Amino acid sequence: MTKTYMVTGGAGFIGSNFVLYMLGKHEDIQIVNVDKLTYAGNLENLKSIEGDSRHVFRQVDICDRRSVGDLFREFDFDCVVNFAAESHVDRSIENPAVFADTNVLGTVALLNAARDAWDDGSGGFGDHVYLQVSTDEVYGSLSLDEPDTFFHETTPLNPHSPYSASKAAADMFVLAYADTYGLPVNITRCSNNYGPYQFPEKLIPLMVKNALAHQSLPVYGDGKNVRDWLYVEDHCKAIDMVLEGAKRGQVYNIGGHNERDNNYIVRKIIEETCAAVGDDAITEALITYVEDRKGHDRRYGIAPDKIKEDLGWYPETTFEVGIVKTIRWYLDNQEWVDHVTSGDYQTYYQRMYGSRAQA
Ligand code: NAD
Ligand code: TYD
Repeated sequence: MTKTYMVTGGAGFIGSNFVLYMLGKHEDIQIVNVDKLTYAGNLENLKSIEGDSRHVFRQVDICDRRSVGDLFREFDFDCVVNFAAESHVDRSIENPAVFADTNVLGTVALLNAARDAWDDGSGGFGDHVYLQVSTDEVYGSLSLDEPDTFFHETTPLNPHSPYSASKAAADMFVLAYADTYGLPVNITRCSNNYGPYQFPEKLIPLMVKNALAHQSLPVYGDGKNVRDWLYVEDHCKAIDMVLEGAKRGQVYNIGGHNERDNNYIVRKIIEETCAAVGDDAITEALITYVEDRKGHDRRYGIAPDKIKEDLGWYPETTFEVGIVKTIRWYLDNQEWVDHVTSGDYQTYYQRMYGSRAQA
């Protein structure tokens, strides 16, 4: 029987990778892609599936309760996978309100519509599932001095940025809908993703883009902040496995124990980009240490034991392979980069870095 997925934010970075992954992996599915198309959403990402009748696109804001309700009347969804979000920490520091709207109220609008549509009248919800795509950032920050300490699913939420606060609030609503109404839910909390189609405001694509243009590579603070990097396809695989096999009501951390500090990442990008294009002007001289991000979390580190033990998930792409593939993708898709950065990107970039003092 055809399974129908509502995938929100399916024109963004991870969402579009997920749509492509799922259509490549499963023959008999339908995906209804619900995306507002903010600056971060791009239908170009889905060009390779143009004409595939298994994919239907709807430009809808998840905060628009009436339109979300209409979608549940139009389609018989088996599951919802909620990627839609404002996702950039720097933007959340500038303008927190839109993060509360989309990430919190948008999630509540989806939960409400799913509950209303799926309730079988006697408190049951059949085989439906609502999956919330969350982040390790809800746990807060770890210390560099205790490299053997990790985030577990039981680690208390302690978000610091407006972005992570909004994601943590959304997680609490998801769990509240499970506890109060019995809605079958899962939450996945993944570490930093990298790969194709990531908007070049995030560390890795921004550094590749700037390196190619011989522009400065702005590293915040001392560059010793650590992130736990995962190739995006491994995240997509984990979500598919949770949808297929997880016990409902459970939270799963996703990460591949690949912790690197920002200095390492930027140097690696310089090395690999220089080698890929044979351009000796791409050197460490481009690195500029700039004023630190406000409230900058020092270290993220995920313990993925539960998803490994319960579902047999493991990451397939090592960082060494993934970073080379990713750089190659940005080199081969410079038109995509030009396209997605043609809107308000220049204004954004000036605002972010124009005023940032050198450290
Ligand atoms: P992204 O910013 O690239 O994409 C977000 C998508 O959501 C865009 O297509 C945008 O148009 C859409 N969107 C935004 N507001 C919307 C609204 N009100 N209604 C409908 N659509 C809307 O983000 P991403 O990096 O792909 O992240 C996707 C999800 O994964 C987010 O929930 C994020 O919190 C989570 N996550 C991201 C990472 C990461 O490293 N990028 C890691 C863990 C979790
Ligand atoms: P980012 O890609 O914004 O992801 P997140 O903040 O959600 O982890 O940033 C990754 C790390 O890189 C983070 O420690 C901030 C740092 N960073 C820079 O040093 N310079 C930059 O220009 C950007 C965008 C990020």
